[in-house]
Amino acid sequence: MADLTARYGNLHVSNHPLVAHKLTLLRDNGTAPKQFRELVRELSWLIGYEAMSDLTTRPRSIETPLEPMEGAELEPRVGLVPVLRAGLGMVDAMLELMPTAQVWHIGLYRDERTLKPVEYYNKLPDAATVQVCLILDPMLATGGSSAATVDILKAWGAARIKQVSLIAAPEGIATLSEAHPDVDIHVCAVDRNLNERGYIMPGLGDAGDRQFGTFAGPGSEPGHASDETAEVVRRLQRTLADD
Ligand code: PRP
Ligand code: URA
Repeated sequence: MADLTARYGNLHVSNHPLVAHKLTLLRDNGTAPKQFRELVRELSWLIGYEAMSDLTTRPRSIETPLEPMEGAELEPRVGLVPVLRAGLGMVDAMLELMPTAQVWHIGLYRDERTLKPVEYYNKLPDAATVQVCLILDPMLATGGSSAATVDILKAWGAARIKQVSLIAAPEGIATLSEAHPDVDIHVCAVDRNLNERGYIMPGLGDAGDRQFGTFAGPGSEPGHASDETAEVVRRLQRTLADD
């Protein structure tokens, strides 16, 4: 992990003890969907706060009950871009932090065999309406979904983009950073690697299923790999090792 922050200047990993504590509860297999959703929300608040620490402000003159003063207000218009489905659980917390943010939904799912993102929903208008976009997605695994979302947002005209996730794999950090070195990545933790099915290890399993209680049985469990999927993961791991 220390290596990755040294290698990728755009990577920011939280070292807050509250984050470590809540993330452990989130990962625990015994955590049921209700508590899981609460934890996603709490962790989003904490990592969102860190991710917004370099937003610019402009002066704003106000009067306190005692005297006039020069305060500050956020300068850029900010867009929250939750990646459906799992990113939905991060939105409320971020809106609490930034109530005036716009929310633009993007729907992507990962093809289970190729691990490539498939776009199924996009409600962005023709031109960008915000200067800073925060992509919200709890899991950065191969990085395919994130890199595709950044492509969409750049084509839309977003000037500045940040990826805000709870857990990332080294493979995904490498993919996103190499495709888009200008995109800051804010995460609660960087895990060991991807398994042969493209799941983050030790991770937390499927973030969408755990939030929404849609675990579909052993066939969809992390760990049943096809040869094609395993080869995609091996290719990513070779690229990371070669860099
Ligand atoms: C998960 C997750 C990311 C993606 C990450 O979504 O929420 O969007 O996988 O994987 P990647 O980095 O390898 O692209 P999933 O496809 O499971 O869809 P869901 O949120 O609808 O469950
Ligand atoms: N998506 C998830 O929800 N979990 C993973 O580990 C990888 C992708």
